Amino acid sequence: MISDQPELAESERSNDVALGAQAILSRYQEQIHAGLSRVMDTLPPEVLSPARYHLGLLAGARPGKALRPTLTLLLGEALGAPLGTALPLAVAVQLVHDFSLLHDDIVDGDRSRRGQPALWVKEGMPSALNTGDALLTAAFCVISTADLPSRTSTRATLRLSSATLEMVGGQQADIAATGAPAADLPQYLGMVERKTGALMGAAAALGGIAAGGSAATIDACESFGRTLGVAFQLRDDVLGIFGDSAETGKPVGNDLLRGKQGLPLVLALTGHRKLAETARSWLAPPGMRRRDLAAAVELLREAGVAERCQGLTTTWTERALVAAAKLPLSEEGAMELEILGRWLGERWN
Ligand code: IPE
Ligand code: IPE
Ligand code: MG
Ligand code: MG
Repeated sequence: MISDQPELAESERSNDVALGAQAILSRYQEQIHAGLSRVMDTLPPEVLSPARYHLGLLAGARPGKALRPTLTLLLGEALGAPLGTALPLAVAVQLVHDFSLLHDDIVDGDRSRRGQPALWVKEGMPSALNTGDALLTAAFCVISTADLPSRTSTRATLRLSSATLEMVGGQQADIAATGAPAADLPQYLGMVERKTGALMGAAAALGGIAAGGSAATIDACESFGRTLGVAFQLRDDVLGIFGDSAETGKPVGNDLLRGKQGLPLVLALTGHRKLAETARSWLAPPGMRRRDLAAAVELLREAGVAERCQGLTTTWTERALVAAAKLPLSEEGAMELEILGRWLGERWN
């Protein structure tokens, strides 16, 4: 139907996408939750309580979106994988992601995660690091102890371990860029692809592996997930500056205060002369003061940085959807991937 109120039609479409994405995510939530709970029985008793806290397995906690395991299960289902094969792979991906978050909050100095104090704030850095180590190791134990065909197990281990290494490299590049007064958009995008795209690519590839897909199908899954991961991180960077911590469950503004080269700062540093000069002044020691944060965010908004961020995010979402179109999916599977992909680029949490 053609609406004579284009703005209303646009917001209705966004609402439909959000509802559709929520329905897809909740379809798998229980199985993922149960799979993670089973892993808890394999952990050393000392890290059980911090692991449960971080994973959101305690009553009343707000768990993560479980986006990566959902990608594994959704693609697995759309490509014909039995749930019993896809689920351990999905759980392993989530464990690697959760390991990365435990270490990432320490690296970034971020004090909240999923609407509660980050584990390093609650239990101290040594416990958070150690719990992260347990989750990373458990991820690979889950794959090797699951009742899987040996080819599935080997292929999944290879994909997931190489993606984890790539992610660690990307995190190191992120650390190196922090506080640097010069930025480069292609270099930034490369860092994002490694720190976030690689694991999202593996999440999708593991769906193809669970289905016993050909090398070409698995590569196509990987390419879709990796590209979507870039769009996802671009939106994450936007939410880190222009978002609402009540919705994201994470601090807002810290990226600017700490000189993290997220997309808004990169666009400011590479923008017109006056904007770039101002952005560089935020990075000059001792860094931006908290009382100057609101004005800096407003300045970015007025300079059109939020809009440019959204434009780039949409470009990467569209690229991911082009990659998805190469997959041998059912009509329904393709539609669900599109809904999930579009939501990721415009989400608020
Ligand atoms: C946060 O990922 C880390 C990034 C790579 C941006 P998510 O936004 O998927 O985190 P949770 O698991 O839902 O909390
Ligand atoms: C997350 O990057 C990347 C990894 C955890 C590997 P960010 O530092 O941007 O993610 P958030 O915003 O803290 O979740
Ligand atoms: Mg972080
Ligand atoms: Mg980080």
